Amino acid sequence: MSYVLSGVVGAPRRVWRRLALWLHARMPKGLYARALLIVILPIVLLQSAVAYVFIERYWEAITDRLSAHVARDVAAVVDIYKSFPQDEGHAILSRIAAFDLNIQVAILPKEPLPTPEPKPFFSLLDRTLSRELSHRLAHPFWIDTSIGNTNLVEIRVALDDANLQILATRTQAYASNTHIFFIWTALAAVVILAIATSFLRNQIRPILRLARAAEEFGKGRDVAFRPRGAREVRQAGAAFLEMKRRVERAIEQRTTMLNGVSHDLRTIITRFKLSLALMAESAEAAEMRKDVDEMERMVEAYLAFARGDGGEAPTATDLDAMLEELRADTERRGIETRLSFSGNPRIVVRPAGIKRLLANLVGNAQRYGKHIDLTAKNDGKALTIHIDDDGPGIPVERREDAFRPFYRLEEARNQDNANTGLGLAIARDIARSHGGEIELERSPLGGLRASVTLPV
Ligand SMILES: Nc1ncnc2c1ncn2[C@@H]1O[C@H](COP(=O)(O)OP(=O)(O)OP(=O)(O)O)[C@@H](O)[C@H]1O
Ligand SMILES: [Mg+2]
Repeated sequence: MSYVLSGVVGAPRRVWRRLALWLHARMPKGLYARALLIVILPIVLLQSAVAYVFIERYWEAITDRLSAHVARDVAAVVDIYKSFPQDEGHAILSRIAAFDLNIQVAILPKEPLPTPEPKPFFSLLDRTLSRELSHRLAHPFWIDTSIGNTNLVEIRVALDDANLQILATRTQAYASNTHIFFIWTALAAVVILAIATSFLRNQIRPILRLARAAEEFGKGRDVAFRPRGAREVRQAGAAFLEMKRRVERAIEQRTTMLNGVSHDLRTIITRFKLSLALMAESAEAAEMRKDVDEMERMVEAYLAFARGDGGEAPTATDLDAMLEELRADTERRGIETRLSFSGNPRIVVRPAGIKRLLANLVGNAQRYGKHIDLTAKNDGKALTIHIDDDGPGIPVERREDAFRPFYRLEEARNQDNANTGLGLAIARDIARSHGGEIELERSPLGGLRASVTLPV
């Protein structure tokens, strides 16, 4: 029972949900278009309602009344005709009709009335005039509301001894000129729309500007931005600026702190080395010297990491040229390297930071592979650079670890190589500060593929 009930209740809800989805898919997505719709829709609805009521009530009521007048005049003419048979040549009748009632009357010989013309379906005048005449007249009649292209309405009444032909103007029986009302409403709508459009444009521009500023900040580029527009938009703008300041301050603080720590460590290491130099030569001292050397390298790398790319200004940079430089470099070391670039190579980045990032990735590939492929593609939205090698690669479960500072996969056998394990951490930091990302995958060459994406 409850199942049946829920089925019955669920059906309209499903229909409603489908309708909502359908509407959602068709609604304009932009704020500007939506705001315009919010303004236009009520105007259109209001005007439709007003037009409907106007036609239904006012127009019909006026036509009713005007037709009733004409019908009354016709009845009066018929009455005069019948009441004054002594009227010579119907001179009085013609005079009263022409001067007082403003209609033309002619007496035609008695003959059957013409067959009625097919009526146009929408003719309000035909309908109302026929109705009013049949109320007023006891005689058969015939009407033609559109004789030729004239502005006249013809009415014929079959009397006992003659046919009465009456000509009145359409405007006497019919509320015309209604189109002026529609022209005025349409014109008003156009004017309102024009005003609404220009106002809306001004309201939405600050929102778009805020969105652009936030986007640029995410890509690590600085844009001049000043909150403007309506109070709420200005509030959002001010909040964004405050957030931006806080983020910048946090980065600055981190950099200063790391700088300080590394600097202090370097001083101690220098003192250490000095003491070691003064010590007598021994296997132990040699071991220690090696350790201290490694420590020094790590601190240097850390300092470089801490310095980050702070202060460097983003500029339009030719990345094709940068990659070509790296390619030539690796070639010189006897490693076969190919480069292909498609799309616009100039994008706005911090050149030294990006150089460091790419050098790091290519350096890794160089160390592990015999062949390197550099493939870059700018599709207008983002620049993607693949760095492929045919080395051993990194197993899936250790790829995330490889990004950790000071992490080296081959810790055990590579104690004495010159690497600190900071390269990928720094590279990812640089990519992210540009609003981009680095990912490690399996390369089609068999080794590791490092993919860098940078927003354009
Ligand atoms: N192309 C690659 N093929 C195989 N292993 C890789 C590759 N690139 C990086 N790795 C592994 O990931 C680890 C981390 O790389 P990362 O660049 O961060 O440090 P590093 O190269 O050892 O040191 P640094 O770059 O600071 O000189 C490396 O030690 C290596 O084990
Ligand atoms: Mg490296």
